[in-house]
Amino acid sequence: RWERRWLNAAGLLLVLFLVLIAYSLATEGGHIAQRSGRAAPDQLTALELFANPGVTVTNLGAGRPPEVQVSVVAQSYAFNPSEILLPVGAVATFYLTSRDTQHGFQVEGTNINVQLIPGEISRFTYTFRDAGVYRVTCNEYCGIGHHNMLGTIRVL
Ligand code: CUA
Repeated sequence: RWERRWLNAAGLLLVLFLVLIAYSLATEGGHIAQRSGRAAPDQLTALELFANPGVTVTNLGAGRPPEVQVSVVAQSYAFNPSEILLPVGAVATFYLTSRDTQHGFQVEGTNINVQLIPGEISRFTYTFRDAGVYRVTCNEYCGIGHHNMLGTIRVL
């Protein structure tokens, strides 16, 4: 009888594990729809994008998720803007570049991890499905201030 109980307990644990794995796979946050390192829009578009970095609503999304455009300029040792506000569930297309040296843009708790290269635009689309505060770090050693090169994405 005890053996049977132990077997049942082991079986139960196994099921629990499978459920947890399935759950963690299903709630992996958003997903990156596309990314390309060498998108090269014409100079004018790039100027417009980065003249006033930040969030622009590109579609209010009647009946579908809103769409926003996020531009970020990295320069030793900060991101501009350092704080990005996004509505939860919005389809956010990011355009990032660097003004000086190579930097990184990694968002903790997501699979966002791109390199920012001077003269190039890193582009990707991401949907934050959970509200919260996400820390942005530079993951590319860029000099003495590297470890303090931080940002925040606030999803409301
Ligand atoms: Cu910028 Cu490390």
